[in-house]
Amino acid sequence: MTISAIRIGAPATLDSLHLDTLADPGEPGPGEIRVRLRASSLNFHDFAVVSGMLPADAGRIPMSDGAGEVVAIGAGVSEFKVGDSVVSTFFTDWNDGIPPATAFTAVPGDGIDGYAREEVVTPATWFTRAPLGYSHAEAATLTCAGLTAWRALFVDDAIKPGSTVLVQGSGGVSVFALQFAKAAGARVIATSSSDAKLERLRELGADETINYKENPAWGFKALELTGGRGVDCVVEIGGAGTLDQSMFATRNFGHVALIGVLAGFAGPVQTALLMAKNLRVQGLTVGSRADQLAMIAGIEANGLRPVISDHFALADLGAAFRHQAANAHFGKIVVDI
Ligand SMILES: NC(=O)c1ccc[n+]([C@@H]2O[C@H](COP(=O)([O-])OP(=O)(O)OC[C@H]3O[C@@H](n4cnc5c(N)ncnc54)[C@H](OP(=O)(O)O)[C@@H]3O)[C@@H](O)[C@H]2O)c1
Repeated sequence: MTISAIRIGAPATLDSLHLDTLADPGEPGPGEIRVRLRASSLNFHDFAVVSGMLPADAGRIPMSDGAGEVVAIGAGVSEFKVGDSVVSTFFTDWNDGIPPATAFTAVPGDGIDGYAREEVVTPATWFTRAPLGYSHAEAATLTCAGLTAWRALFVDDAIKPGSTVLVQGSGGVSVFALQFAKAAGARVIATSSSDAKLERLRELGADETINYKENPAWGFKALELTGGRGVDCVVEIGGAGTLDQSMFATRNFGHVALIGVLAGFAGPVQTALLMAKNLRVQGLTVGSRADQLAMIAGIEANGLRPVISDHFALADLGAAFRHQAANAHFGKIVVDI
């Protein structure tokens, strides 16, 4: 039996992504499972890898997110049984507590091969159970975007019912953050470059919306919408180009969850404003396996379903990334395997 997979070409571009055939991954050894992957989902991080923005080895199999069913288990695996629905973890070496200093070297689709393939044999700890009742496509959205939003709100900051959260744009992380914040009883201010997307964000529960293209000073607008107090937490996916407005939007002693790079990897920081407002800016990288299990319990407790705007076939991965790069999506794009 052979397995289909997608590989990154040299140089890495959307055009050099190509289909390949792999040898059968074989039977799982002690502590391992074999998974028939059924879905993956696109993250900006995957786009950065396949487009050459981040360095990756030629021939790397991309995609950090993978969901499917267990088809065989090795000796000593008690957490799973054949037929279980599972979803991959972003870090393969971060079980709990403080992350190891290996950065992205052990992340599927970056430092090691990812899940743009039909079957895989891995240590059982590289997957967790999927939420009960979730399709594989839904489960595949959780590994990176879902867990990042969960971590920003509940692991690092612990927002409370009644808190106000600002989410930026309508991509994967931000739509999850909106959904999680509403499920926790928070008030949400959402921004987008598109009025049509703002309407969809309101349908999902956003209490207030701001078009950040029409309002370059959207941070002051958000401040105004909180009666001058400021928001408790910003889910900051822009980075250097949006941090100033995020700090203006945040209340004294508030929290900025620094997640993304969509508006730049580096830039000047208004350190005096950071100090004057007594802000906490917390950089974060996704979360641990234990955080993922906690998120799954949280999802099951309130019945939250991910927002998937588009499905593509695995063979059309390049087209899926072009759709993402055009900002034509809302929430998540899924690849069916
Ligand atoms: N640190 C981590 O652990 C971690 C984990 C996940 C993601 N990230 C980062 O978080 C960011 C978002 O990732 P994603 O996968 O959610 O991306 P995505 O789904 O591709 O989201 C793209 C959306 O972001 C919005 N956007 C783009 N530029 C913006 C700006 N200047 N201001 C406000 N919104 C903007 C746009 O929304 P509209 O079309 O509505 O304007 C766009 O559609 C990326 O930088 C990614 O690398 C980091």
